[in-house]
This record gives sequence, C-alpha cells and structure tokens, in this order.
Amino acid sequence: MSIQCIRGVKDILPPEIEIWQTIEHKAKSLLEQFGFKEIRLPLLERTELFHRSIGEETDIVSKEMYTFEDRGGEKITLRPEATASVVRAYLQHNLYTLDPIQKLYTIGPMFRRERPQKGRYRQFYQINAEVFGIDSPLIDAQIIFMLMYFFKNLSLTNVQLHINSLGCRECRPQFYHALNTYLSQFNADDLCEHCNRRRTTNPLRVLDCKVEKCRQAMKDVPSILEFLCPDCVSHFQLVQTTLANQGIDFTINNQLVRGLDYYTRTTFEIQTSHLGAQNAIAGGGRYDGLIQLLGGPDIPAIGFAIGVDRLIELYMQHHESPKPYVDMFIIALDAPSKKMAYTLCCDLCIKGIQVEMDYSARSLKSLMKRADKLNAHFVMIMGEQELANNSVILRNMNTKEQFVLSTNGIVDHLLTQFFITPH
Ligand code: HAM
Repeated sequence: MSIQCIRGVKDILPPEIEIWQTIEHKAKSLLEQFGFKEIRLPLLERTELFHRSIGEETDIVSKEMYTFEDRGGEKITLRPEATASVVRAYLQHNLYTLDPIQKLYTIGPMFRRERPQKGRYRQFYQINAEVFGIDSPLIDAQIIFMLMYFFKNLSLTNVQLHINSLGCRECRPQFYHALNTYLSQFNADDLCEHCNRRRTTNPLRVLDCKVEKCRQAMKDVPSILEFLCPDCVSHFQLVQTTLANQGIDFTINNQLVRGLDYYTRTTFEIQTSHLGAQNAIAGGGRYDGLIQLLGGPDIPAIGFAIGVDRLIELYMQHHESPKPYVDMFIIALDAPSKKMAYTLCCDLCIKGIQVEMDYSARSLKSLMKRADKLNAHFVMIMGEQELANNSVILRNMNTKEQFVLSTNGIVDHLLTQFFITPH
C-alpha cells in the first residue's frame, strides 16, 4: 500500500479548501477592521516555553505535546497553541516598549497528541487573536462581540456563548482553599484516576473533567464566582452588562476553567450542540499574569482561538461544498489553433478569467465531455476552418447559445461582453 498520512492528521483537498480560504479571508478582514495586525510565528519553540506558560499539570503539557531533542540536543516542541508564542515574540522583540498596547493575530496549525476522533485532530488549525496592554472589561466584551459577529456573519447561529471569571491572584487562593476542602471529602473511587492526581497537583482542573463520576462529585462544588474580590466582581459585571447591551446572549458557567493554567478573570467558550463530543469551537480568556511569568513587565492580556477544523465542520452542515468550475475551456483542434489557444489562455488567465485548454489530440466529442466534467461555463472551439476565417466559436454551456467571434481584439471582447468579473 502507498504511504498514508499519520493518524490524527489530514489533508485538506479542493474543493473543501475553498471554504477554508473563504473563512480565513473573512476572519482576517474582520480582525483587521478591529485593529489587529498579523504576526507569523515558528511552529517550533523551546519546550520550556509551554511548560512555563500552559502549566506542567495540564493535559496538554503532561501528555499531549510533540516534544523531541533535535540534533543539537535542544528540547523542542511543536506548538500545541499559539498564545505562549505570541507572548514570547512580544517580549523577545520588546514590542511593549514601542507600545504596550498590541493587537496581534495569527492563523495556522497546532499540534496535540490527543486521541483522534471527529473534531479532534493531532494537527488542527486555529485563528488566534491576542490583545496586550488593556485591562478594561470593555476589551473583553469587544473581542467576544467580534467573535459572535463572526459566527453570525457566517450564518452559524446554533452556537452558545459561555462565560466565567476565574478571579485574580488576590481572590483565587480563597477559592482554592474552599475547593480543596470540598475535594477532600471524596474517596479515591469517587473520582477518575486523573482527578485523583489533579486534586493535589491542579484542583481547578477537576471542575471541568468530563468523566461522569467526577461530574457527579462536582455537583455541589462551591462557585468560584462567590469568591471573587470586589475588583473582579465589578470587572466581570461590566463584561456582562456590555454584552447584554449589545444583545449578545450568554450563559454564566461557573465551572468553565479552560484547559490551560494561565487564565485569570474572564474566560469564555463558544460551544455548539451540533458537533458531538467536541463541542467547543472557540475559547479564550484573560491571562493578566502570563507576560510577567515569562519574564516581562506586568502587562494585562486577553485573547481567544477559534478551532478552524470544527468551525468548518459546522459550516459545512449548512453550506454545500462549492462546485468547481472553469470560466472557459478551449478546444483547439489542430496545431496552429493550439498555438493561438495557448496565447489566449495565458492572456485571459492573467486578466483573472479561469481558462483551461486541451493539450491532447482528442476528438471534439470527447473534449466536449471534458468541458462538462470541468463544469466549463463557456467552451471555445477553434480549428482549421475557423482560423482561416479569423474567427472562433464560443458556446455558452448554460444557455447553449453559440457565437462566432472575430479573433481581432478577442481578449477585450470576451472581457467586456462575456465575463463580468472586474479586471
Ligand atoms: P483551546 O481551548 O485549547 O485554547 O483551543 C481553542 C480551540 O481550538 C478549541 O475551542 C477547539 O475549537 C480547537 N481545538 C483544540 N484542540 C483541538 C483538537 N485537538 N482538534 C481540533 N480542534 C481543536 C487555546 O488554544 C488558547 N491558546 C486560546 C487563547 C488564546 N486563549 C487566550 N488567547
């Protein structure tokens, strides 16, 4: 058997790729309208970056990263997410000295060695946006507003916004204390193997464990929202009132802790019930301590990532895959016509018209079949007789109308009379 791609990764083929291009194009336009600038980052980073930022005890760092020693003995990781890399670049290039306020976005693949299933891949794609230097809750609301607008604009209305606040370094310890007390009542059998470990290493993670017995155990867990300090309460309140004033529906989910350790205050996730178990299509939140943790100044930050693979799966439930087509297929029946067809094909392609020609010596009948297969909107036919009259035949494949066109000034004629695309 020929070599296949590895488990959990996939090829994105035409015509589906057109949907990816459309979505990425729309995302870029919207982000730029909101003042974000693109940043392109390496896929390889020092492993330490993710250990320090995402957290040693998270699933991502403890079991999902693709980490290896390169030939120089350096520990390298294929990035499992982009936030840590954006912060690394912000610090490495001292972007904050130019202006602490930076809005940056990046689109590309991430790598996590999870158990593959529908909507969960080992190489997947994110549209990732980060805002540095603004602690106002208005920016939290604005990026959520922008995200919800993005989904609405794609006619994806079957999505729900969940929000929570994880407090700050002032109030989180009080919640930890209450959480630890709550967790101490359970025997080892009451929680899954991972949560038994987590309750000592990273108790917050027990809150969003999906295993049924852990969910049961967490039924009466104290709400983090009851432990927020006054500043965090008013911060979260303003996020909510701003969203409500903009007509954005949301659910407060006090167990939304997210899978990465860097979050503080606002966290959010956009979920859908139409994708099965992998229901989060975007997630993000504030991470006010991360820049400092990675060696920079105390600068607040917030961001999100959209899971493009899942977004596209959802999008394709409501939109048909685009049907490939060509604007025109040229059938040239002899060598001199082929020469002319070749020039015409190049001239029209650079004007933005998709033109294909035939390079073989097949019969008219089989080439008309090929025109149908290519879904050609027009077919141009030229042969000895047409060339002798300085003319070609143009057939509109939808209306079946046929025209005889002069070869003089044919490019302009086609562009003005037959193809409405702006050139
Ligand atoms: P995350 O929740 O880990 O957050 O990932 C964001 C989105 O990526 C998820 O909601 C999901 O749609 C998609 N995703 C995650 N893992 C997979 C997978 N294995 N297969 C397919 N899609 C997946 C982050 O990555 C944070 N860095 C987001 C962020 C940016 N927070 C602040 N700034």
